[in-house]
Amino acid sequence: MDAFTYRDGELFAEGVALSDIAARFDTPTYVYSRAAIEGAYRAYADALGDLPGMICYAVKANSNLGVLNLLARLGAGFDIVSSGELERVLAAGGAASRIVFSGVGKSRDDMRRALEAGVHCFNVESRNELERLQDVAEEMDLKAPVSLRVNPDVDAGTHPYIATGLKENKFGIAIDEAEEVYALAASQPNLEVIGVDCHIGSQLTSLEPFLDALDRLLDLVDRLESRGIAIRHLDLGGGLGVRYRDEHPPQPAEYLAAVRQRLAGRRLELLLEPGRSIVANAGVLLTRVEYLKHTEHKDFAVIDAAMNDLIRPALYEAWMDVVPVQPHAGPERTYDLVGPICETGDFLARERTLALDEGDLLAIRSAGAYGFVMSSNYNTRGRAAEVLVDGERAYEVRRRETPEELYAGESLLPQ
Ligand code: LLP
Repeated sequence: MDAFTYRDGELFAEGVALSDIAARFDTPTYVYSRAAIEGAYRAYADALGDLPGMICYAVKANSNLGVLNLLARLGAGFDIVSSGELERVLAAGGAASRIVFSGVGKSRDDMRRALEAGVHCFNVESRNELERLQDVAEEMDLKAPVSLRVNPDVDAGTHPYIATGLKENKFGIAIDEAEEVYALAASQPNLEVIGVDCHIGSQLTSLEPFLDALDRLLDLVDRLESRGIAIRHLDLGGGLGVRYRDEHPPQPAEYLAAVRQRLAGRRLELLLEPGRSIVANAGVLLTRVEYLKHTEHKDFAVIDAAMNDLIRPALYEAWMDVVPVQPHAGPERTYDLVGPICETGDFLARERTLALDEGDLLAIRSAGAYGFVMSSNYNTRGRAAEVLVDGERAYEVRRRETPEELYAGESLLPQ
């Protein structure tokens, strides 16, 4: 289902014209569809069906409270990587008991706060982290539930910056060392081993790497059981890709059918941590053309969104679709769409053939994941507004930042 479709010659988000959103909230603005987010979550929940487990939405993909609240209402779990994300989930009505805490660099404060809140599980990424967690749990006289994030050494076949499951990556504990670290974990008085975890990368467009990783994890589970270390859950991380252009990523139903087959006859709960596949195609970045600049070599459309609003094209050379909100006739040209920031890398799309006038609105599609959350205030640009559409209504779920807010925490030296 696509929540962004043309009606009467203009692009709508569900039942709201994007031109109305631009008029009410100005640009650049992120626009999300409630129906699309809920549909994507339900595709996972339905595919999980009667398998015991949880869909733990990866908060990093889009952490707006409005978005988290929709998912919490549907009963989602959450995958977090900082105590900041923990506070967001709690503020949005998520249950601590449905949170898994991932990440290679958890501080003692992060651990304390998560133990206090009562998270479901810590996905521990190194022996040192395990020792620290034992220490903090002991100080608090609590038992910390743990799963080790194992690095299964499989090639996810994705962009090198977002592949995480190869042995040269910083993530997880090498699968060959995992048994030993599990034995250590099991011997600690303030730790309780409950799971095995992996996350091999993001934007995967085939199932093989997931299933290879799963097979390696199941082998490990068997070896652990024969040592008397019982595993209750398997967490396969996130990573299912989405269509930006012409990719054909597998759907959750297909993925989970294959996983279900391999889990048959075992009593393992299944956890997943999808981020991108829940929110990417539920969002667009709405922007306006400020200037058309024709040079001898190139045609530029200078738009009011920039790399600080959406860094994926600059950082990963990611291709994101750009479509006109109110398509009109006129001469087409091949444009580079660039922002107002003083960097050559400040482009959102290159070589797109469009008929444009100054003042036109454009929608950058598939921007619901790793969009706003990766934005910055470079060039003292306030971050964009975020709007959540529900049927015929549009709600501002985050207002645009003002310049005063940007330097509110700063001060002058005393005279
Ligand atoms: N679990 C863990 C431990 C992760 O590190 C990630 C993403 C996820 C789950 C969610 O993965 P997803 O389902 O979204 O693929 N900024 C990059 C993507 C970075 C992904 C980092 N980890 C991008 O814009 O493409």
